[in-house]
Amino acid sequence: MGTHHNSPNIHLPKHALLEHKLTRLRDKETPPAVFRKLVHEITQILLIDATRDLPTHPESRHTPLAAFSGATLSQQIGIVPILRAGLGMCESAQALLPLARVLHVGFARNEETLEPCFYYDNLPIPPNIDIAIVVDPMVATGGSAIATLSRLKETGIREIRFVGLVGAPEGVDALHSAHTDVPIWLAAIDTHLNECGYIVPGLGDAGDRIMDT
Ligand code: PRP
Ligand code: URA
Repeated sequence: MGTHHNSPNIHLPKHALLEHKLTRLRDKETPPAVFRKLVHEITQILLIDATRDLPTHPESRHTPLAAFSGATLSQQIGIVPILRAGLGMCESAQALLPLARVLHVGFARNEETLEPCFYYDNLPIPPNIDIAIVVDPMVATGGSAIATLSRLKETGIREIRFVGLVGAPEGVDALHSAHTDVPIWLAAIDTHLNECGYIVPGLGDAGDRIMDT
């Protein structure tokens, strides 16, 4: 087992709906259309928690009856899906954060070495966002997430949060050790990685199940 799971920067929200939906997500009988819908719903539950303390500033407005003092989010938020599987979480993140920008980073794991191989990004320098919320369903070795966060930091992005669905203990530890400043949200941390680099019990290949490839 990993060593960082009690860190205040690793969040595993407890929620009955999360447990119910994650069970259906893992089930091999769940077809792609339902799988995608579950990914959306679980992402929203996690994002509600992951955005709980975003900074706001006061804003004065009027209801039809009276003036009131409300609040507005202060930061330009960026949603950063790691291609491809992160795309499955992107639309639901946009639905919740309609003013967020979406920036893409592409890494594909080499199936033999398990090393993340970079193939695309569209990150502007200097950055056009104040905070990046990186989304990718799986943290297996942690390599893809670690490399993505490093790339975001290289472009000058200072504040980053990571939201995934399922992690392996060794990958979550590696991610947390490499980027201790980045808070991590997951629906579950599973038991281990198998010899092929798959999370067990996990949910299989997230990209393939989302895209039906
Ligand atoms: C999967 C997943 C993560 C990565 C996790 O993507 O979506 O990005 O593997 O593994 P790691 O923690 O060991 O890096 P994959 O590279 O299979 O690409 P895909 O999303 O296009 O299927
Ligand atoms: N990527 C996935 O999609 N699933 C795993 O179990 C590991 C990496």
